[in-house]
Order: sequence, then structure tokens, then C-alpha cells
Amino acid sequence: MALAIMLRDHGGPDMLRPEAVEPGRPGPGELRLRQTAIGVNFHDCYVRSGLYRTLPLPGVPGIEAAGVVEEVGPGVTGFAPGDRIGYVTGGYGAYASARLLPAAQALRLPPGVTDRLAASVLLKGLTVEMLLRQVHRVEAGQTLLVHAAAGGVGRLLCQWAAHLGATVIGTVGSAAKEAIARAAGCRHVIRYREEDFTARVREITEGRGVDVAYDSVGRDTFEGSLACLARRGHLVNFGQASGPVPAFEVARLAAKSNSLSRPIVFHYIAERSALEVASAALFALLGSGAVRAETGQALPLAEAARAHELLESRQAEAPLILLPQDSDA
Ligand SMILES: NC(=O)c1ccc[n+]([C@@H]2O[C@H](COP(=O)([O-])OP(=O)(O)OC[C@H]3O[C@@H](n4cnc5c(N)ncnc54)[C@H](OP(=O)(O)O)[C@@H]3O)[C@@H](O)[C@H]2O)c1
Repeated sequence: MALAIMLRDHGGPDMLRPEAVEPGRPGPGELRLRQTAIGVNFHDCYVRSGLYRTLPLPGVPGIEAAGVVEEVGPGVTGFAPGDRIGYVTGGYGAYASARLLPAAQALRLPPGVTDRLAASVLLKGLTVEMLLRQVHRVEAGQTLLVHAAAGGVGRLLCQWAAHLGATVIGTVGSAAKEAIARAAGCRHVIRYREEDFTARVREITEGRGVDVAYDSVGRDTFEGSLACLARRGHLVNFGQASGPVPAFEVARLAAKSNSLSRPIVFHYIAERSALEVASAALFALLGSGAVRAETGQALPLAEAARAHELLESRQAEAPLILLPQDSDA
């Protein structure tokens, strides 16, 4: 039997309850994994609260983890028992000590990427690859605005963008986070709970605005982000930590020939070839040291509810990971 965190009803963190489950034998194209480290993401909070209705209930949430292949199903090639793999999945089920996974979603982990690091960085890193290389091709000399720059995705995004030669303006919610954002490569940091970030961006860019604004905060920042854009600038809304963005009138984009995107990483890694290209870019950057990712703050799998509380209270020393009790990762 495996330990899984079951969600039976939408609601607060206390809806996340440990249960014993039987993962079963792998079917055609599947792997059975013993999981060693599991990533915790804001997406999981949206699924738990019911903001996203993408996990049929009852169900096991969680979209990324690392582990060891225990058994391969019929027709699987390229994987064998004992292989160390990581994955990101739109199919959920990651909050468990063991599970079945389509082999097409599994990524063999390079020796330098530990299981804990993979669980901390895969979803966030693939998201950043999508944001900087697919949704908007960031180039040297461009100026970017990144909200929640000290967060899990934010730190990676700022480092990778600075590595590409962009000037990064980051926003953060506290003084402690300001130092984190600077260490992640932000040339300018704005405390957006105390300062008017739109006015500050105008000042920093001498009235021009930014080429791209990466906004994962949503409701509280959307209008300001739009106002920060340069002519032909691109607003990329990829999250809603403060709540969903209200309905938007498209004609407003014409004022500065702006564009607006609302990307979801799963759509960018659905094809195996795209997943391999994106993960190779991420692993290469981690291997070169150009981007440094931290191994997450670890909690036992059974304490998934506490991990959600930490993330939603803005107190998390992001990223957060869950460890199955017997994990030696
Ligand atoms: N579209 C996609 O495919 C995709 C993929 C992965 C992640 N995401 C999104 O990326 C964002 C970052 O994810 P993450 O896991 O790395 O989380 P995170 O950035 O570590 O945490 C979210 C941060 O948002 C800020 N925030 C602003 N208003 C908030 C509020 N009312 N409540 C809570 N937090 C608030 C906080 O930073 P401050 O204290 O500095 O304000 C908080 O630390 C999330 O919105 C997530 O959904 C999207």
C-alpha cells in the first residue's frame, strides 16, 4: 500500500488528508514509481480550493515529483527498474508515496540533479523556459518586469532572464524578499505593497515602459502591469496568487499595440519532443551554474496541509517539497 493525500471536497488546507491507497500494477506505456520527493506549487492550492476544477474528486493532487522506477508496463522502452526520474504532469496524483505514471512524461534525471532538487525545480523551471523562450523570446537589452520576484518561479525567472542579458525589474512583498530578488539578478526591486510600482517602473525606464511584464499575481497587479508596458510591450499573465483577473476588454490593447498572453505550461510540454527540448535547456543551465536553484524546504508528505498554509500565507521559504516517510532522497 502507498500513502496518498486525498482531496474529497474543495476548501481549506485541512481538506488534504492522508489515506492508504493501492497504486496497482503498471498498464501498457506506464511506469510504477516509488516517489522520493514531491513538489508543492501554487497550482495545487488552486486545485484544493476549487478555483481550478481540473482534478475530478475524490482525487490525489500534485503535479510534479521525483522517484525511482519500480516496475515498467508492457511496451515501455527507454526505462528500467532502478532508473531515477522526475516528471511534471497535468494528470495529478503526485501527492503519494507510490504511483503509476505514463512513461511519456518521465524524464531521466542527470547525476547533478538530486531527487529533492528535481521536485523543487522541474515545474518552475519548465515554466520559466516557456515564459522566456516560447511565450516571449527574451533577448539581451530588453527590460522586464517580474512580479513576486523572490518566489519560486520568480527567482528562476529573474536569474535566467539576467543570464540572457535582460534588465530585470522585480517586485516583492517584504524587505527580506528584496535581498532575495537582488541576489536572483534583479537590477531594480520595488516593494509593491508600499510603493506604486507603475510609477516606479515609469521612473526607472524613463517613461518608456517594459518590453514584457511577467505577472503571476493576477487581480492586484494586472492593471498596473498593463500600464507599465512600452509600446508593443507584452503582458504575460501566468498566475493569480491574489485572485483571478476580471473580464478584460481586448480593444484596450490597441492604445499601445500591446499583446496579452495567458499560457499554461502543460500545453507547452504536451509533446514529448517539446518536453525533451525544454528540459534539456533547463538541465544545461542548472549544470552550467548560470541558474542556481535551491532544494526546497522539506515537510513530511502527511503534512501537505501545512505546506499549503505556508505557501498561501506568503511565508514559505519557497520552494516547498514533501517527502514520503520512508524516503531516503
Ligand atoms: N501558467 C503556468 O503554467 C504556471 C506554472 C507554474 C506556476 N504558475 C504560477 O506562478 C506563480 C508562482 O508560483 P510559485 O509556486 O513559484 O509561488 P510563489 O511565487 O513562491 O508564491 C506566490 C507569491 O505571490 C505573491 N503574492 C502576491 N499576492 C499574493 C496573495 N494575495 N496571496 C499569496 N501570495 C501572493 C507572494 O510574493 P510577495 O510576498 O513577494 O508578494 C507569494 O510569495 C503562481 O501564481 C502559479 O500559479 C503558473
